[in-house]
Amino acid sequence: MITFERLIGKEIEPYVEQFAWFRLNDFKEFPYLYDGNLEHERENFQKYMDEEQSLLIVAKDGEKVIAVSTGIPFDSPFMGKESADLFLQNGLNPKDFYYFAETIILPEYRGQAIGRDLYKMKEDFAREMGYKEVCFIAVEREEDHPLRPDTYKSPKNFWGHLGYEKLDISVSFEYPTIQASGKTEMASNLMFFWKKKI
Ligand SMILES: CC(C)(COP(=O)(O)OP(=O)(O)OC[C@H]1O[C@@H](n2cnc3c(N)ncnc32)[C@H](O)[C@@H]1OP(=O)(O)O)[C@@H](O)C(=O)NCCC(=O)NCCS
Repeated sequence: MITFERLIGKEIEPYVEQFAWFRLNDFKEFPYLYDGNLEHERENFQKYMDEEQSLLIVAKDGEKVIAVSTGIPFDSPFMGKESADLFLQNGLNPKDFYYFAETIILPEYRGQAIGRDLYKMKEDFAREMGYKEVCFIAVEREEDHPLRPDTYKSPKNFWGHLGYEKLDISVSFEYPTIQASGKTEMASNLMFFWKKKI
């Protein structure tokens, strides 16, 4: 049986290593191609813990962690001023939004409605905290990207299915990115915002 644990603010501390493992493993794959390191992940996690309304939902099969999913207020220092300014320029109030950082499910547990449940739990939490909308960013890669696997199934349809709409608002993030050559280089990665009223 799959169980879910909801951790808020400092409660997330015991999961730092596991959370980092999920991110480092999944995000090195297409489309993120993020070649991160544990030290940087720990620093990031610390900033996350310092935020009172940050959220980590852990899904377990018995004692085994099989999914992690996070959220944080959009106007928190963790997110930085650039994203908030972008929303203001586009007529959106950053304070209305709760931000979904990542949802990662082990491949063998995908397609069993765990993703849908995690998004619903995060929407419920955001509503409880008084937010009106939720948003997230997703990386965009060209259709003919050399590292796109033939079997790759984009989560875009999943998000559409859950009622999220893609916005015409984008941001670029620089991070160590795996190149087609197999080498890692600092590169700019284009991401688009998605949102939903809750
Ligand atoms: C994207 C992800 C979170 C989806 O979770 P999941 O548990 O596999 O999805 P669910 O089983 O809850 O699917 C919910 C619905 O969306 C549909 N769906 C799921 N993935 C889909 C996809 N890639 N394309 C189209 N529809 C999809 C399902 O058919 C299901 O429809 P139903 O309610 O009519 O049965 C999961 O596949 C994952 O961890 N992917 C890798 C990490 C990632 O890309 N995370 C998102 C960015 S951080």
